[in-house]
Amino acid sequence: MTEDFNPFALNSYFGASYFCDRKNELNFLQKNIKNRNSTTLISQRRMGKTSLIQHLFHSLPPKHIGISIDIMSTTSRRDLLNTLTTAIAINVPSQSSFGKKVWDFIRSMQPNISFDPLTGSPQVSINITTPNDDNYIESIFNFLEIQPQKIVIAIDEFQQILNYPEENTDAWLRTFIQKLNNVIFIFSGSRTHLMSELFSNPARPFYRSTQFINLEKIDSKEYTKFIIKHFKKSKRKIPSKIVSEILDWTYGHTYYVQALCSRIYDMDVQEIDSQTWKTAAYEILKSEESVFLKFRDLLPTNQWKLMKAIAIESKVYKPTANKFTTKHKLGTSATVLKSLKALINKDMLYIGYSEDEQKFYSTNDVFFERWAQWRNYP
Ligand SMILES: Nc1ncnc2c1ncn2[C@@H]1O[C@H](COP(=O)(O)OP(=O)(O)O)[C@@H](O)[C@H]1O
Ligand SMILES: [Mg+2]
Repeated sequence: MTEDFNPFALNSYFGASYFCDRKNELNFLQKNIKNRNSTTLISQRRMGKTSLIQHLFHSLPPKHIGISIDIMSTTSRRDLLNTLTTAIAINVPSQSSFGKKVWDFIRSMQPNISFDPLTGSPQVSINITTPNDDNYIESIFNFLEIQPQKIVIAIDEFQQILNYPEENTDAWLRTFIQKLNNVIFIFSGSRTHLMSELFSNPARPFYRSTQFINLEKIDSKEYTKFIIKHFKKSKRKIPSKIVSEILDWTYGHTYYVQALCSRIYDMDVQEIDSQTWKTAAYEILKSEESVFLKFRDLLPTNQWKLMKAIAIESKVYKPTANKFTTKHKLGTSATVLKSLKALINKDMLYIGYSEDEQKFYSTNDVFFERWAQWRNYP
């Protein structure tokens, strides 16, 4: 990476030296793979699940193959299976002996193969000659099961299966997955209440079938060292006191820490102080303002008012409490509850639990929260 490369990754994995900590989570995942246990990885959006999986896949032991898919855009079981087959085709180098076997296998299923006009990468879609999805999934898993390599499949945004027209897709998947020995899964998702429904509800088939990781924010000591190290590499000073102000303002929420540090890094200031990060924060909120105002146009008024009110209070434990609804002129409890449900379904609110297990609501976007507080400042 060139000297002026901005080390704070925002949308992709840049490699181990740009990846901060997560040693415990990595050890736990590696141990699960060794013991052939599948893992469920949940966290709020942008906390670092996808990056952790990429980091894991960058250091898999020999004779292991990592395949990761994101099923957020899939709308049916067939979609899921096509996405999986495409990922297998893309992740395995076609010239390798396993790669050749992969392509022989795919061809045996009479696929339609198209190439992405922009990236040139193969897009596989299996045509209707394969009568049903049961045969299709069984063929894929049987193929992977007989390979000499251990296969690790990471399915990102797994809760999406709950949106398929076919009911009980978790039960359907479970019947095939539980027969496997050579394939280990990592199920990850940002809709924490839906992921808990799938994996912690005793009435559901995946109940107690995986090991859990609730991905929290990165340890602040480790993150402070990481941030200071990267600024120092480009001969700039950032006192740890300033780093803790940054971690406070972003709640230590990975993406937002990265975004603020990335902005400060681009400011090219030699000695970073409180005013430096506040200027960077102000610039970010200004640049995001049009997006936030779009929310106002897109959301029904009651939902917008509730979202802004929750953002201003940061965490709301009793959204129908008189004090809260009066202060923010939110109307009746029924109105608030209706808006609350709608905002959760739109993934604009996050349901969290305090240390003493009190349920609270907060917005799913730290910058939106800070913007609402800033704009609300008298
Ligand atoms: N351990 C880490 N060290 C540095 N940056 C990270 C780390 N984990 C995540 N990030 C950055 O934070 C952002 C959000 O991470 P991501 O993996 O996409 O979150 P999620 O999948 O939970 O939504 C990305 O920009 C990523 O580069
Ligand atoms: Mg992700």
